[in-house]
Amino acid sequence: MTPDPFTLSHWYAIGRIEDFPNGYKGEHRILSTDIAVSHHGELNVTGPEGSMGVQTRYGHVWTTLSRDPRPLYNMPEFEEEGRRLVTAGAIAVRCSGLRAVENFLDMAHFPFVHTGILGVEEHAEVEKYDVSMGAAGDEIWATKCRFFQPMAAAAAEGGQVIEYRYRVAHPYSTILYKTCPLRDGHWDLIGLFIQPTEEDECIVHSFVLVFDEHNTDTDLLHFQQNIFLQDRMVLENQVPNKLPIDPRWEMPTRAVKSHGVTWSTTRFEKVA
Ligand SMILES: [Fe+2]
Repeated sequence: MTPDPFTLSHWYAIGRIEDFPNGYKGEHRILSTDIAVSHHGELNVTGPEGSMGVQTRYGHVWTTLSRDPRPLYNMPEFEEEGRRLVTAGAIAVRCSGLRAVENFLDMAHFPFVHTGILGVEEHAEVEKYDVSMGAAGDEIWATKCRFFQPMAAAAAEGGQVIEYRYRVAHPYSTILYKTCPLRDGHWDLIGLFIQPTEEDECIVHSFVLVFDEHNTDTDLLHFQQNIFLQDRMVLENQVPNKLPIDPRWEMPTRAVKSHGVTWSTTRFEKVA
C-alpha cells in the first residue's frame, strides 16, 4: 500500500485508551507501516522516521504518519452530560477499510443482513436522501435518511421509522447519527474508527455514544457486536475486496448516492 497524501494527512485510532496502560509496550501497524507503542508515564509512538504524533480522544489513542497532520475532526457530543460511551475493542477484518466505510453507509443491506434488527424485507426501499460536503469541504454528510427499523437500538421497543445522518469524517472514519428514542431533539452516535493495516486488511474500532438509561453496558456492547459480526461476514466475502475510486468501475445507485461523492472527494484531494 502506497498511501496518497490525503490518506497520510489523517489521524488513526489504534486502540482504546485502556488498552495501553502504564508499562505497555507493543507493535502495531497502520497503512502498511510498522509502529511501536509504549506507555511509560506518557504514550509514545515510533515509526520508521522516529517519534510520531499521539493523542487520546473519543476514548481512543490516535496517531499519524504525517509531520503536519490535519486536525482530528470534532465530535462535540462527546462533551455532553449524560451520554454513555461504549467501545467494542479492536476487530480485525480482512477487507479494505474503505469497504467497511462503504458498507456502514449502505442502508439497503439492513433488511437482508440485519434482518429483524435494523430492517425487515417488507420495508426494503431506500428513500431519497441528501448528500453534501461539510463546510470545510473535507467531509461528506448524508442527511434526511429514513429507514424503517424493527429494533433500531438496544433501547428501542417496537418498530419505527428512524431518521439518520451519516458522516464520513475522514476516509477511514464514519459516524452514524440516529434519532434518540429516549430524548427528543438528540442524536445517538455510532461510529467506526478504522485502522487500515494493509490496503485490503483493517482493524475496526467501534463505539456507541448514547443517552440510554435502560440497558447495561454489556447489553449495548452485545447489540453492537451482533450487528458488526453480521457485517464482517459480508465484508470479508466482497469481490473485489478493494474499493474502486473511479465511479465508472462500480455502478452507484440511490442507496449508495453518498459513495459517488466519496469517490469524487478522494479524486479531488489527490489532484489538489
Ligand atoms: Fe451492516
